[in-house]
Amino acid sequence: MTSRLKDRSLIDVSDLTTDEIRHFLKQAKDLKKKILDNPDNYSPPCNKSAVLMFFEPSTRTRASFEMSAQRLGLRVMNLDYSGSSSQKGETIFDTAQNIAALMPHMLIIRHSGSGVPYQISKLVKVPVVNAGDGFHAHPTQALLDAFTMQETFGDKLNQKKVLIIGDIAHSRVARSNILLLNKLGVSVDVCGPPTLIPPFANELGVQVFFDLDKIISNYDVIMALRMQTERQNSFQVPSLKEYSSRFGLTQERLAKIKETAILLHPGPINRGVEMGSAATDDRRSRVMDQVQNGIVVRTLLLSEILGVQV
Ligand code: CP
Repeated sequence: MTSRLKDRSLIDVSDLTTDEIRHFLKQAKDLKKKILDNPDNYSPPCNKSAVLMFFEPSTRTRASFEMSAQRLGLRVMNLDYSGSSSQKGETIFDTAQNIAALMPHMLIIRHSGSGVPYQISKLVKVPVVNAGDGFHAHPTQALLDAFTMQETFGDKLNQKKVLIIGDIAHSRVARSNILLLNKLGVSVDVCGPPTLIPPFANELGVQVFFDLDKIISNYDVIMALRMQTERQNSFQVPSLKEYSSRFGLTQERLAKIKETAILLHPGPINRGVEMGSAATDDRRSRVMDQVQNGIVVRTLLLSEILGVQV
């Protein structure tokens, strides 16, 4: 059967229908089993290539896209930002068009500018996958987060309550997660300092809270976000210490969280700010599962878009 995602770009969750998301998550479950049963089973080399254009730092997304591509036998080129002609004044759009002229089969793009992968997808003829753009979107993170939630809650996920804590205003992870979970009918609320909640947050279909201690015991999924200091101005919270005391997953707060809840964080964690070591080591933490699920979701996505057998 032809893949539903064949030759398509993925810029945000809004590119996917609810049916496509459900189908994808089901396929991801099967693929994870296949990978775990036989982790050394890499596909033979194929004549398809992907270019990673990461113009912003990344550990998890970049490494898992690269390892996923290798698992599928793709030829991968990593465009080194510091050695690219961007350093000589070339725009990202010209760079992308020049790379596309080399005839790769896909571009995977991370950029600090919201909308850059979308604009590039309009300029080139190959599929573009958004690996995170500015405040806007991080669709593969949202897919792997939903997959991780579904691993715990299965078909009952839509009866569960998700809380996203922290710097919602600057978070592409929050936006893509809210969009995706809304499509799956899952209830999402947000909590953080008023200065880090976007002005029209309610329009995203979430309830907004400011006092974490009053509500934290109500939730089944607690997702802490990184304080994105590189995108904030210096007046948004008094200090990271103050932030942690009000919104961090501290030892005291762990005691208030449901025993059956799970703790998520997209990474990178500012240890001791959003999550202390007690939270990362807590048996409810699924942070490393999220990272591992990154391989599953991205392998599946690349295989579906490129029509490569996994
Ligand atoms: N979650 C995430 O996007 O992490 P990286 O910035 O390390 O890719």
